[in-house]
Amino acid sequence: MALKSKIIISVFLSLTYLSVIAQQKEVFYKVSENPLYKNSSIPTEQRIEDLLQRMTLEEKVLQMTQWTYGTNANENNIEDKMNEVRPEIGSLLYRSDSPKFRNQIQKKAMEDSRLGIPIIFAFDVIHGYRTIFPIPLAQACTWDTELVKRSCAVAAKESHSAGIDWTFSPMLDVARDLRWGRVAEAYGEDPYANSVFGVAAVQGYQGNSLADKYTIAACLKHYIGYSLSEGGRDYQYTDVSGQTLWETFMPPFEAGIKAGAATVMSGFNDITGTPATANYYTLTDVLKNQWKHDGFVVSDWESIENLIPQGVAKDRKEAAYKCVMAGLEMDMKSDVYLENLPLLVSEGKVPIETIDEAVRRILRLKFKLGLFDNPYVEELPDNERYLQPEFLELAENVAAETMVLLKNENSILPLNRMVKNIAVIGPMANDSLHIMGSWEGIGKSDDAETLLEGIQKEFGNKANINYAKGCDFDGLDSLGFAKARIAAEKSEIIILCIGEKRQWSGESGSRSNISLPAIQEELVAELSNLNKPIVLVISSGRPNELSRIHSKVDAIIEIWQPGLRGGSALAGILSGRTNPSAKLAITFPLTSGQQPMYYNRRQSSRPIYGQYRDVSKDPLYDFGHGLSFTEYKYGEIQLSDTIIDKSQTLIAEIEIENTGKFDGKETMLWFISDPVANISRPIKELKYFEKKSIKAGEKMVYSFEIVPERDLSYPDNTGKRHLEAGDFYLQVGNKKVKFELVD
Ligand code: NOJ
Repeated sequence: MALKSKIIISVFLSLTYLSVIAQQKEVFYKVSENPLYKNSSIPTEQRIEDLLQRMTLEEKVLQMTQWTYGTNANENNIEDKMNEVRPEIGSLLYRSDSPKFRNQIQKKAMEDSRLGIPIIFAFDVIHGYRTIFPIPLAQACTWDTELVKRSCAVAAKESHSAGIDWTFSPMLDVARDLRWGRVAEAYGEDPYANSVFGVAAVQGYQGNSLADKYTIAACLKHYIGYSLSEGGRDYQYTDVSGQTLWETFMPPFEAGIKAGAATVMSGFNDITGTPATANYYTLTDVLKNQWKHDGFVVSDWESIENLIPQGVAKDRKEAAYKCVMAGLEMDMKSDVYLENLPLLVSEGKVPIETIDEAVRRILRLKFKLGLFDNPYVEELPDNERYLQPEFLELAENVAAETMVLLKNENSILPLNRMVKNIAVIGPMANDSLHIMGSWEGIGKSDDAETLLEGIQKEFGNKANINYAKGCDFDGLDSLGFAKARIAAEKSEIIILCIGEKRQWSGESGSRSNISLPAIQEELVAELSNLNKPIVLVISSGRPNELSRIHSKVDAIIEIWQPGLRGGSALAGILSGRTNPSAKLAITFPLTSGQQPMYYNRRQSSRPIYGQYRDVSKDPLYDFGHGLSFTEYKYGEIQLSDTIIDKSQTLIAEIEIENTGKFDGKETMLWFISDPVANISRPIKELKYFEKKSIKAGEKMVYSFEIVPERDLSYPDNTGKRHLEAGDFYLQVGNKKVKFELVD
């Protein structure tokens, strides 16, 4: 560049910089006036504007910055050093659970900073804080939104008592490939289920008002398409077509936004060439312009900086530019904004209006949370805020409804009262760590009841419990098999508890093969040679491949990662105190190589050809599968009409009779299929579900109101919905009826 142009540019930059300084001086002057933003009787938007015009550029960018504080337990997100807290910081990822300490930091923000803007304290409260509930995937198998909502409300209450204002939950990444460990964190493979449970979670965390005492702000993540990470390897490229984006991934986020979710987190993934963190289309066009979200978007951990390895930014400055211009308001951890935004503004590259709008959104949440007016939290002793009896009772109830009875040959369960000797075997039997799942909040494995303890409590007075570990979760050591055989030989039944370590799922918990390590399969084979009945109990963060072991056992219960009260919950099912009611919210494939395998796939062009040469095309257990101790007789589906027009509502009803001996809870999963459309549709799609209690011998009518615009239309690759006349099928259980939609 010619020297002359360089001089002109630097003079221009200096002038711009001087004008920014001048504005700041003016701002400093204004702070001495009576500040409106501190007056709680003024409408929020006015308070925001008043505060905004008093802030310097640096203060604004600090609001757009999140640092971490406290000890880090998450091996994926280790910081090099702890930053010293600046009182002007926008947010802290707060890893201590001390409310006192939190209040001290907040006091610094309120009193030592020029404007006294409170900090928003965040934490990953995913399936409980200290009272650990089952993982979200398990929670979806309850098909009970009220339970999910209540567990989130408990998590909000406990975490708020530690000073947390904001959780990075719920995760709504619709599961696709089970090798991807984060399938544990979402509500299964169905977009509708993720939408409904996502809304329940938002309601549970946020309550009626964010300003209420025990509520925290929710964060919908990871926006968007992250679960398509190639090969199931975490953080990889994702090829998300417009059709898949709108049909599979957008619905849960849209539902969560409509339910009032305060914030959104962008994903680590590159969405077909434009990383989620710098994606104008998803962050601004859709989220802000179409859905009118008035909250803000936080990046994932250092994901602004990740634009460099993702190959769309040459340096941190360009990364900052791309993200802020795309509509990403808060920088988690990387300090890229803090380093670069002031300069980018002074260079005239980033308009100050863009910064103002971002800060406005962040301040809005702080006002909504009531942090300006009540910045501090109560400082209660641990025994008054954590693990309250009602929290633990709920944790057990939720766990009991998440456990899926996959197989129960000859009705071997519940255990006969006459059983006098029970063998409890396997690496998961006496474990209190892995059953907690991958996001344990501040949970302690000492708080957790093991499966063995639960079984001892349930049966201890009536039967001898013969325990043996058998083997470890992995490795080659089979020396423990001998003791396991002895325990089994002394018993009439074997409860064999196997599964996955908690780090085998969750963030960065990908596996190329979803079967259990060979040593665990060998233990199953060894014990099956004894010809004693075996109940296989599996604790895992994903469905595992059971192709070599499922036929060797009589019953199988998938208990997922059940949290603190999994032991009692499982024991209740074994004894018959609880009649299992969970149904799979995710397909159980037969083998790893069938991935991806989800129920709502498209029909093949040649349905009976093109199958595998080595294994069946079918999964081992379908989406929605789950047995009960009782039997239900399904009546026929009754429709209010067989032909409707687009403005009409169709009412479907089905009568279910509990013909068995146990009271039970049965869930109706209502599917619709649209066999011919201008854009091909999935084989079937879940549109509604409902769970009800039915006493033995009683009948219950379930109904579903089909609203054409909502339930029969579909999106194209731009999100535009189409409602086409034609034949549709409604399916529930193995009942199916046809109806017609006319123009
Ligand atoms: C990275 C994870 O992807 C995200 O889910 C989590 O909320 C953040 N780290 C913060 O811990």
